[in-house]
Amino acid sequence: MKTAFITGISRGIGKAAALRFLQEGYQVIGTSTSGKSSIEHSACECLTLSLDRPESIKSLIQYLADSGQELQVLVNNAAVLLENWSNPVVNMDFLRRTFAVNIIGTVELTEGLLPFLVSGQSHIVNISSGWGSFSEKGFGANVPHYKMSKSALNMYTKLLAERLKNQGIGVYALDPGWVKSDMGTQAAERHPKEVAQEILNLLDDKPSGHFWHRDQIRPW
Ligand SMILES: NC(=O)c1ccc[n+]([C@@H]2O[C@H](COP(=O)([O-])OP(=O)(O)OC[C@H]3O[C@@H](n4cnc5c(N)ncnc54)[C@H](OP(=O)(O)O)[C@@H]3O)[C@@H](O)[C@H]2O)c1
Repeated sequence: MKTAFITGISRGIGKAAALRFLQEGYQVIGTSTSGKSSIEHSACECLTLSLDRPESIKSLIQYLADSGQELQVLVNNAAVLLENWSNPVVNMDFLRRTFAVNIIGTVELTEGLLPFLVSGQSHIVNISSGWGSFSEKGFGANVPHYKMSKSALNMYTKLLAERLKNQGIGVYALDPGWVKSDMGTQAAERHPKEVAQEILNLLDDKPSGHFWHRDQIRPW
């Protein structure tokens, strides 16, 4: 049985992705900050992870190492958007807290999980955002902390894809669009289930090192 590791399965896109992978017959190892999720399935385990706490990342990696875990899929989904959507002013506290989860913790976790990914048949999907793009139409100065964190995640995606290209591990950044969730609000246009399917579609021999949106490569 293949195993997908998905961060942030307590709600939103991460929960929808976990349910979709379970439907496909994967074992799912997910995370939330409380270690709880509402998914009740014998093939789903939810572990405690706070990406802004290095000791939390280390103990999760140790737990997987102790159980001899192999992974075929890593979905870096968990993230925070702390700021008011209309504010363009940089606040150093928000910047530090946003980077701690969305980039530093995400990179630290990914680097720690690389030895668990099976060469030749594994995939890493980084859930990014159109707000991390340099080519957005109507680019605005708002949401600076989140935008900077997601553009850094995009660069990590490209770097990692290059690094892992001879190991048969595909690395993808996914712009999910505006999605109904606690982060996206219920006013958003897309359902998390649509994004869950797009994550799965990326595992189907798609070229590594690109930024995807609705099953198409989009400009960074
Ligand atoms: N919704 C949108 O419109 C939209 C648009 C573009 C990109 N995205 C991206 O899509 C992904 C999922 O977003 P979503 O809308 O589903 O968000 P969400 O509903 O707010 O869910 C966020 C998830 O991240 C986890 N999380 C939060 N802080 C964490 C921390 N410090 N350490 C570890 N996990 C943490 C949460 O776990 P707890 O429940 O334990 O807090 C939760 O499971 C994110 O990467 C987001 O940036 C979303």
